[in-house]
Amino acid sequence: MTTETTGTAARDGASRPGGTAHSPFVRACRRQPGPHTPVWFMRQAGRSLPEYREIRANVPMLESCRRPELVTEITLQPVRRHGVDAAILFSDIVVPVAAAGVDLDIVPGTGPVVAEPVRTAADVDRIRPITRDDVSYVDEAVRLLVAELGDTPLIGFAGAPFTLASYLVEGGPSRTHAKTKALMYGDPELWHALCARLAEVALSFLRVQVDAGVSAVQLFDSWAGALSEADYRRYVLPHSTRVLGGLADAGVPRIHFGVGTAELLGAMGEAGADVVGVDWRTPLDTATRRIGPDKAVQGNLDPCVLLAPWPVVEAEVRRILDQGRAAPGHVFNLGHGVLPETDPDVLTRVVALVHELSARPVE
Ligand code: CP3
Repeated sequence: MTTETTGTAARDGASRPGGTAHSPFVRACRRQPGPHTPVWFMRQAGRSLPEYREIRANVPMLESCRRPELVTEITLQPVRRHGVDAAILFSDIVVPVAAAGVDLDIVPGTGPVVAEPVRTAADVDRIRPITRDDVSYVDEAVRLLVAELGDTPLIGFAGAPFTLASYLVEGGPSRTHAKTKALMYGDPELWHALCARLAEVALSFLRVQVDAGVSAVQLFDSWAGALSEADYRRYVLPHSTRVLGGLADAGVPRIHFGVGTAELLGAMGEAGADVVGVDWRTPLDTATRRIGPDKAVQGNLDPCVLLAPWPVVEAEVRRILDQGRAAPGHVFNLGHGVLPETDPDVLTRVVALVHELSARPVE
């Protein structure tokens, strides 16, 4: 793929008056003051929305990710409904892995399932590098979305090497990541070869999105919290650093997120993030002490709180905004994705409340 033009579209878009560079979301990522604390929700496009369930009714998940018009509509649904400060591309972390030649499917209610789990060096070799042509539908969807969204930033994303490796080695979702860790500890050479390959796939996938005009990227290492800090640093950090470091010149903020990562927050920042995502277990003031003063934080309402009566939700939103003031920049979000059973009206109220409570005059 051509990388010469990398970042040009994003940089031009970001510097254009009325572009996204001055949006509350990009400003918070860059630790600049803004008119209010920006808010979006991981998995904001999804089964909590009746309009999503309707449009997805007869289209399998992976196929829906490959239809640019459908991706555009699904991505815009939560922006229209909730007034969130950013859209996130509708796709999945396994989309580029499928494009790289891995036989997999996303099974409703289960998640990604891989036909032939990775066991050998030959299995790793079969994971091809990807080019823009392999994911042209993503390039097209991002361009359609950037045109539709105007001043509202679009977040691109990829799965990080550890989380992708877990699906590939386990063959599907896992609670313990036992097979993954067995490979990691038992055959470090194969482990590093696998993660290096996945890092290139993730980086290429993010480059396509940046070139097409996304305003920020998020690297999802959802399951990294399964590791100790020492093992994270040894087996994972170099590969995630390759992905985030590979985008250092892209001109867009880089968010790095995982679940159960209280002990890893510092290392995840070191991987090359501008913003570190924090789950609900760590208060944001504690998190920012661990991450340091040169990075913003994102989070961290427990998605289950949204199922509680409104006064409980309101108190938690206030607490998180208060604790977020300790950070040099705060993007309000959940600590993990929206649960399908969430009442979408509660999400809309949370957006309004965050905006109201955090409103401040700007010079
Ligand atoms: O709105 C958004 O956040 C953007 C869309 C998005 C999806 N997947 C859509 C999706 C994003 C950012 C992802 C990333 C993703 N996919 C992650 C990292 C984030 C996280 O949640 O930790 C992971 C681990 C996956 C793997 C995956 N894909 C899982 C665990 C599932 C859920 C399986 C299920 O049915 O419960 C999927 C499928 C998936 N990806 C859905 C959506 C909306 C549900 C599919 C459906 O609607 O039928």
